Amino acid sequence: MALVQFRNVTKAFGPKVVFSGLNLDIHQGESLTIIGGSGSGKSVMLKLLIGLLKCDSGTITFDGEDVTDKSENDLVKIRQRIGMLFQGAALFDSLNVRENLAYGLREHYKLSEAEISIRVNESLQYVGLPGIEAMSPSDLSGGMKKRVGLARAITVRPEVLLYDEPTTGLDPINTTRINRLILHLKKKLKVTSVVVTHDLQSAFMISDRIAMIAGGRVVFDGTPEEIQKSVDPLVRDFVRGEAPQYEDTETLLRSAG
Ligand SMILES: Nc1ncnc2c1ncn2[C@@H]1O[C@H](COP(=O)(O)OP(=O)(O)OP(=O)(O)O)[C@@H](O)[C@H]1O
Ligand SMILES: [Mg+2]
Repeated sequence: MALVQFRNVTKAFGPKVVFSGLNLDIHQGESLTIIGGSGSGKSVMLKLLIGLLKCDSGTITFDGEDVTDKSENDLVKIRQRIGMLFQGAALFDSLNVRENLAYGLREHYKLSEAEISIRVNESLQYVGLPGIEAMSPSDLSGGMKKRVGLARAITVRPEVLLYDEPTTGLDPINTTRINRLILHLKKKLKVTSVVVTHDLQSAFMISDRIAMIAGGRVVFDGTPEEIQKSVDPLVRDFVRGEAPQYEDTETLLRSAG
């Protein structure tokens, strides 16, 4: 059975329908990239998975457990197994790098200060930023912030890592660095990776599988080779960078025939 299963998931914010029947499997150990236009629901999907948002109907299971009917306490247990790099890194500017990384560890793990220091240090090593514990997030470059966000996501040694646009806004060198890091973490820590990105070059580099979301559902699910060969106009336009951005499901579905 897949590690994560989205089944007939629907989600709307008032009149805005984001998902109208989302189905997707994420398998243990794979690296899945989610693509789709701005506003198609990629970030919402990740937040549904960790229970930060609730779906309106359907089920989402993680390792066989339905996360949609879990209490906050049970969700905390699930979240301990999933690290998330939020879009924009979401670091606390009032805390230094060390405290940003230690925060999650302090909250839910019974670790001594010495153990916390080791974890913080190790995580910063992983992302190639050793020794910056005392720096303030506001003094970091965009690329460094992303890497610190990633370091924070791995402090809890998660089984699954969710990356929300890990390379958006980065220069090509930092983009390559982050992509290599994603591959490295997958190999070294054997994590299941779910990466949301607009960057198809990155997607081709890091993915075993690519899923495309449009019009409230998954419109493509296959390998990087398959997506490049897809004859679906919606997929083809997106891959070529010619995708018109449909705001509502009806127009989209009409255009998709
Ligand atoms: N908490 C919220 N309240 C109301 N609307 C929301 C909320 N979160 C997301 N939305 C809406 O849901 C839709 C999907 O948002 P989401 O952030 O998932 O898009 P996205 O695919 O991640 O886009 P981007 O590529 O720009 O990050 C958008 O129309 C957004 O405005
Ligand atoms: Mg987003």
